Amino acid sequence: MTRNQNFRTILKKVINTEDESHNTSSNDSFDQVMARARLGRRGFLKGSSSLAAATLLGTGLAFAADSAKQTGQAAKASTGLRLSFNPVAKSIADTLTVPEGYTAQVLLATGDPLKSNVTPYKNDGTDNDFDLRAGDHHDAMHYFGLNRAGNGWDPSGSDRALLAINHEVCEDLGFVHPNGPTNYGAESTEARPAIEIDKEVAAHGVSIVEVVKQGSTYQINRDSRLNRRVTGATPCQISGPARRSPMLATAFSPSGERTRGTINNCANGYTPWGTYLTCEENWAGYFNRREDDAVRTAKEVASFKRYGIGNETSGRYNWSRADSDSDLYKRWDASKTASRANQDYRNVANTFGWVVEIDPFNPSAMPQKRTAIGRFAHEGCWPAPAVAGQPLVFYSGDDSRNEYVYKFVSAAKWDPRDATRGMAAGDKYLDAGTLYAARFNDDGTGEWLPLTLDNPAIANYADYSFADQADVLINARLAADAAGATKMDRPEWGGVNPVNGDVYLTLTNNVSSSSGRGVKTPLNAANPRYYADAKGESVSKGNVNGHVIRWREAEASHAATGFNWDVYLFGAKASAEADVNLSGLTDENDFSSPDGLWFSEAVPGLLWLQTDDGYYTDTTNCMMLAALPGTVGDGTAKMVTNKAVPINGDADQQVKTYMGQPASPAALSRFLVGPRDCEITGITESPDGRVLFVNIQHPGENSESATDPTQFTSHWPDGGSARPRSATVVITRNDGGRIAV
Ligand code: FEO
Ligand code: CA
Ligand code: CA
Ligand code: CA
Repeated sequence: MTRNQNFRTILKKVINTEDESHNTSSNDSFDQVMARARLGRRGFLKGSSSLAAATLLGTGLAFAADSAKQTGQAAKASTGLRLSFNPVAKSIADTLTVPEGYTAQVLLATGDPLKSNVTPYKNDGTDNDFDLRAGDHHDAMHYFGLNRAGNGWDPSGSDRALLAINHEVCEDLGFVHPNGPTNYGAESTEARPAIEIDKEVAAHGVSIVEVVKQGSTYQINRDSRLNRRVTGATPCQISGPARRSPMLATAFSPSGERTRGTINNCANGYTPWGTYLTCEENWAGYFNRREDDAVRTAKEVASFKRYGIGNETSGRYNWSRADSDSDLYKRWDASKTASRANQDYRNVANTFGWVVEIDPFNPSAMPQKRTAIGRFAHEGCWPAPAVAGQPLVFYSGDDSRNEYVYKFVSAAKWDPRDATRGMAAGDKYLDAGTLYAARFNDDGTGEWLPLTLDNPAIANYADYSFADQADVLINARLAADAAGATKMDRPEWGGVNPVNGDVYLTLTNNVSSSSGRGVKTPLNAANPRYYADAKGESVSKGNVNGHVIRWREAEASHAATGFNWDVYLFGAKASAEADVNLSGLTDENDFSSPDGLWFSEAVPGLLWLQTDDGYYTDTTNCMMLAALPGTVGDGTAKMVTNKAVPINGDADQQVKTYMGQPASPAALSRFLVGPRDCEITGITESPDGRVLFVNIQHPGENSESATDPTQFTSHWPDGGSARPRSATVVITRNDGGRIAV
């Protein structure tokens, strides 16, 4: 076993990509499914599925009309959209491919300078100033148009803009170090060089960088005063209901008002007042904790278990053990080491797992961790369209196996005059409201379950006694267990179709021999598959190809507490049998493990899907597809047969689900294929829809060495023998037209 394989084994234990889920609640047990069936339909639809479909259509028309009012010309603009490019073929080459007639250029790769006085990145591990360079593992990003003065937001600004780019992790192989990492990983108890830790911490977070239009494309303006980094060390305020909770007290902030850093910045969101929301996803694996559970309270232990923080770990990178006594490193130790919580970092993990608001236009504004939106493995936080006089609504996925879908509904009603108020608007709309978790009923309806102490299921929860609303939000997973939310197949990105208000969300996969869907986690109508043969495997490990679910809120309001859902698309390889390739994917559009999902704002009705796949990679690298989706309820009820596999016994499992229209190349087409071992994630556009920004994350992540080029699986984007790097690319159409249509 090579050093890297060994490291990967250790890492997987820590970040829990391949073993047990942390959701041991009984939600969605077969008993509950049966109980729900006996209770009958609890949603706002009544009657048979054909009547349900008819009602859906009616609701849909009402919502479309309402949505059209909200977005002006949206519904009209979508009429007659047609995908105008030739699909890109599947590929396992170490290259980035876009359609004929398009050009992709690298804009900003890992380590590239954000300032003109910073030296070019040598990419040999010797550059240490990552707080002045692009971080690693580019993930979600967003385009914020700059006004002509260059000091404020102009949503239609196209000459200059700020890109806010997430940097999810620092590559585990240690490409940022000259000779790979020292004393790395969750099992190491040796001291690490502080210089390595500093670099890894700074490679996390967010880049804010100005881009200027040059010809048909954009270039970085390295002289912009707005260029900056937010990193794993940047001080952040804690705001909302959990601010000043004793559960957030640390030696750094005994009052629980602040913390340092934002990490594992995965997907994102953005607000109607021009701020950026960066979301903390797999933060739970970063902390050292080596202590007997008996030294902690029963509630603390329950919380650690539910979020996957073990008691025999040094954390993913072993950051708490530096060859330095500085508090900067000890802060990663979540063990009880002093007599009082304000003297150690036993609570530090409670200061991560939030949605973090950043004002890209105001470098002096401290990032705010918005606790009203709950603490979990936040994939992202996607806004519904803002409507004057209505609450604001944001959708979130908790991306871990068998976790939940959430939405936040603000207490304050939207006043368009707040669009210029920056973080003060964040204080108004994001610090008070109701967090809900979703239950997807087996009859195609759904309910939003409020996570408040007014909900008797939470107030009287036998497994965990919530002290107050701060406790509910800090332990949102436990509250959602209590409320009875539906375990999903790893919720990733979401988005709202501006044409009709339908909400889409990717469920990337749910694979595990011990807890994957259909293996130990029961199938349900919204998560109806375990069987797939993407690698010709004869034994199921769960839902390996993922799907995209969507729903329509009741009463034509995103703040509603009921909805109707169906499955928009099922991932599969084109050659899979019909019970696997349920959406009828073809060579032009077959994909596996959808992750990034984003509705264009410049071209209403155009949807982008990106993949983060490990189950079709013998045939193709990860990809991005363009889609023109229909509406919730445009398909039919469907009985899915999951073939018997030895692990589940001898009988086929049949599950009734609801699915949309089958895919067709005209409505779903592959637009891009990335280089080897990458994930495609992160997308935004210029206001005119003629320039697309896309992130290529971790090319070459299956390399066997950080230093030996012959062991790299990718050299993208620099080529030759270079270490691979994540990067933002800019895509334009050679004739200057709008992208994809
Ligand atoms: Fe960072 Fe769930 O993707
Ligand atoms: Ca993702
Ligand atoms: Ca993913
Ligand atoms: Ca990733």
